[in-house]
Amino acid sequence: MTAAPTPPDDPRYRPVPLDFVRLPEDEMRRRADDLLADMRRRRSVRRFSTEPVPRDLVATALEVAGTAPSGAHKQPWRFVVVTDAELKARIRAAAEEEERDFYRARAPQHWLDALAPLGTDEVKTHLTDAPYVIVMFKVRHGVQPDGAIEKHYYATESCGIAAGFLIAALHRVGLATLPHTPSPMAFLSEVLGRPAEEQPFLVLPVGYPAPDAEVPDLGRKPLDDIVVWH
Ligand SMILES: Cc1cc2nc3c(=O)[nH]c(=O)nc-3n(C[C@H](O)[C@H](O)[C@H](O)COP(=O)(O)O)c2cc1C
Repeated sequence: MTAAPTPPDDPRYRPVPLDFVRLPEDEMRRRADDLLADMRRRRSVRRFSTEPVPRDLVATALEVAGTAPSGAHKQPWRFVVVTDAELKARIRAAAEEEERDFYRARAPQHWLDALAPLGTDEVKTHLTDAPYVIVMFKVRHGVQPDGAIEKHYYATESCGIAAGFLIAALHRVGLATLPHTPSPMAFLSEVLGRPAEEQPFLVLPVGYPAPDAEVPDLGRKPLDDIVVWH
């Protein structure tokens, strides 16, 4: 019995030259500083303007999300972009019903205490005010044209990374977002008619902030608290 071929002998491995741009160090430093300054301005926005946003900007940010790395390159994500007012209203009504129950009955006191500095409650105006509500689904497994199941690997981690790319991209483009995780989120599959293998992962309203939008005064952990150098 011969051993299974391993890369680079396996014909399914088809390498191409890496497209890598080597930058001078001062340029690298300038980019790093600019990125940090800009990312420090990213905030979760809970009050949106209804002002329309060009669709191509959102589409480009979604393409950026689609460049994220993923386990075995299975790209286990689906982004459902909701702009229809009636659909957004249905999502808001269902989310507020879940959240009312969460805030009034289900949430343990420690969770309510953790949320208190954020000023959140069960009213979710962002779901109808924001011109786009992106609902991201984790695709638990693929389905081949013949119905065969294709395994996905590290789908949760992959979706988290893609969501990070998306949030950062939308911010860099000049748009505001709110990562929103109504609990539980199963109603989204039904409202949006998604198949069973797609599991709601994140709701992301996208738009301009309301002109008088405020955010909680939050600090970030300093570098020394989040990094260990060896
Ligand atoms: C996975 C995840 C789930 C979140 N869920 C909610 C949510 O359901 N509702 C909400 O108002 N904010 C939610 N947030 C936003 C956080 O509260 C927010 O990121 C945090 O308070 C820090 O604020 P900043 O994003 O402005 O830096 C969520 C954030 C993450 C990463």
